[in-house]
Amino acid sequence: MEETIVSKKRMLSGIKPSGDLTLGSYLGAIKNWKERADEFECYYFMADLHAITVRQNPADLRRRTMEQLAQYIACGLDPEKNTLFIQSHVHQHAELGWVLNCYAMFGELSRMTQFKDKSAKNADNINGGLFTYPSLMAADILLYQPDYVPVGEDQKQHVELTHTIARRFNSVYGDVFKLPEPYIPKVGARVMSLTNPTAKMSKSENEDTGRILLMDSPEQIMRQFKRAVTDSETCVRFDKENKPGVSNLMTIYAACTGKTFEEIEREFDGQGYGAFKPAVGEAVVETLRPIREEARRLLADKAYLQDVCRKGAERAGYAAEKTLRKVYKKVGFAAR
Ligand code: TYM
Repeated sequence: MEETIVSKKRMLSGIKPSGDLTLGSYLGAIKNWKERADEFECYYFMADLHAITVRQNPADLRRRTMEQLAQYIACGLDPEKNTLFIQSHVHQHAELGWVLNCYAMFGELSRMTQFKDKSAKNADNINGGLFTYPSLMAADILLYQPDYVPVGEDQKQHVELTHTIARRFNSVYGDVFKLPEPYIPKVGARVMSLTNPTAKMSKSENEDTGRILLMDSPEQIMRQFKRAVTDSETCVRFDKENKPGVSNLMTIYAACTGKTFEEIEREFDGQGYGAFKPAVGEAVVETLRPIREEARRLLADKAYLQDVCRKGAERAGYAAEKTLRKVYKKVGFAAR
């Protein structure tokens, strides 16, 4: 009997090592990656080229990149099943990024929300890299011809621009790029700060801004949740508009426990926030505990981590080179 080989669909995503990973990066992105590891062929990377669009301390950037790799593995991404690599180890990203710059329009890049936000925050360093960031991100994605790009809500606009750039390129040169779709979780796509629930939980902020890090101790986590901003009512009810703090806590609790909002409302009916806030804290502590412990263990084994990123870069480079060769030929670069 003839055997049919069905090739797996591909997923690809990345995170900038511009700060320590937060509960937001975990619930919005990584949790979704690991849940699909068996179903898809997956590529995940540390986006260090993107990180330098904002000034970084070199030693911190190097340390965080390796920590991020350990955390990816600790979150359940098996390096045998997933290709894990450091973006700057695969030179094809920067090369395709340049080509795609020539297919991304000034107006499109100017309209990107992240560019506007980051320019406002770094008014003394609005560099060219910050502006052309989305063409590099398009290159990261298109090099691997993925079907889905699992990201949080804030990256949706960049994935849509990738689509636009790919369509423009294909309309000139034929079907070179597969058109990828963003893959956004139903719960946890936008985790907000615990102290300012109208702002996104961000890894570049300091502790006082209500963010939880994957490596925070149980005591730190519980303290942050006890301080979490709620409202003057005492009722646990999902209402993003009028109760952003409580709704954010419900989102976190739902993402960590798998419970629905209705189940959570029933569970805390008549109990007020005194019982609710520590319960969310405990759910987060238990979600992050195994990750923190495993990441610590892995970080002690530098040789293993180096081996993972060497093999990852080799596998990623192989896939990326195939696409880059095709692109170079299509645009008319002379053969080497
Ligand atoms: P970055 O590093 O800002 O964030 C990494 C991932 O985590 C998600 N995320 C969140 N999700 C929910 N709530 C939050 N508070 C939260 N904070 C972060 C982000 O949506 C993202 O999925 N440009 C990208 C990195 C990148 C990339 C790529 C992603 C570079 N090349 C190619 C996908 C494909 C970024 O800055 O993500």
